[in-house]
Amino acid sequence: MINTGINPKRVGCPCDRLVFLLSFYMAIGRSRRFSIAPMMDCTDRHERYFLRLISKRVLLYTEMVATGAIIHGDRTRLLGFDPIEHPIALQVGGSDPADLALCAQVGEDWGYDEINLNVGCPSDRVQSGLFGACLMKEPERVRDCVGAMRDAVNIPVTVKTRIGVDDRDSYEELVHFVQTVAESGCRIFAFHARKAWLQGLSPKENREVPPLSYDIVYRIKRDFPDLDIVINGGITSLDEVAGHLARVDGVMVGREAYSNPYFLSDADHRFFGETRPIPSRHEILHAYLPYISDQLERGTRLHHIARHLIGLFAGQPGAKTWRRYISENAYKKDAGIEVLEAAGELVGSPDTRRIYALASS
Ligand SMILES: Cc1cc2nc3c(=O)[nH]c(=O)nc-3n(C[C@H](O)[C@H](O)[C@H](O)COP(=O)(O)O)c2cc1C
Repeated sequence: MINTGINPKRVGCPCDRLVFLLSFYMAIGRSRRFSIAPMMDCTDRHERYFLRLISKRVLLYTEMVATGAIIHGDRTRLLGFDPIEHPIALQVGGSDPADLALCAQVGEDWGYDEINLNVGCPSDRVQSGLFGACLMKEPERVRDCVGAMRDAVNIPVTVKTRIGVDDRDSYEELVHFVQTVAESGCRIFAFHARKAWLQGLSPKENREVPPLSYDIVYRIKRDFPDLDIVINGGITSLDEVAGHLARVDGVMVGREAYSNPYFLSDADHRFFGETRPIPSRHEILHAYLPYISDQLERGTRLHHIARHLIGLFAGQPGAKTWRRYISENAYKKDAGIEVLEAAGELVGSPDTRRIYALASS
């Protein structure tokens, strides 16, 4: 669980428990000011560990995990994470209140700090399982799902959704959705600020074609001042994050954090009041290497981890060489961290080369 400065094992009497829960909710609430969006095939545990070396404070979301997978699948593979990843939220996909309650409980037992319900994904596979964005058409069901999840756990249960779906995209319908789901007691909503089309657009197109409407999310915040409203979609700089934070409670960033992770490097200073020195790209890579070595020893193939590093030097001289070297070498059988050290040297100054020489001596 997120570190509140209080040992949860020593929380005995109801009063202490209340203080613990309050501190916990405040800590996770602070980190929600800036979060990294759930992204299938991107925000796996390796990516989250890597991002945590860049920002100690942003809230990290897992990829979406379907209830069926949690109930019947390999939980260690699906839910395992490193304690360094706190604060971390588990995103689940499903539409059955009992299954979702069970999965929320499992998530809490595994140590997650928040459980988030996906009501925004428009993919066909998700629709055929009757979850994701198509649930926007059934606000009462979402209310019942979130209510059952909240009854099952002590950690926050949140909803990530869109601002509309298909022809159900009027502001009144969105208000009805939020009002109905809030009846469950849910206080925290993240909005991808564009609608989704359930037919005719691929998931990728659904992240690009429907126009962004930040004003609608701001308006929801004005109309529901007691709710915590997080805005998401198309945000690519910390200045934009700061601008949104003047209007809503939190900002969630997806693709920019994946393709250009170093843009997060100043986030702890700007949004969380941290004062520790900002590590360089090379220092981050260097700090990541022991984790990678450990994972390789456990049987992970290098390219499963190295693919997340492709954007580390985005926009820097030598970025292309870095990407190409990794793409050409990390997939090879028995490839080890020497591939990343060599790639790092290719984009490094003499000074940074010393970092790798020290690492391997
Ligand atoms: C590759 C990829 C996978 C995604 N997977 C999920 C997911 O599992 N759950 C979810 O709620 N949203 C998912 N999304 C949507 C993102 O969470 C986010 O809402 C969207 O990318 C818009 O934010 P951005 O413009 O900052 O990327 C995914 C997006 C991408 C690019």
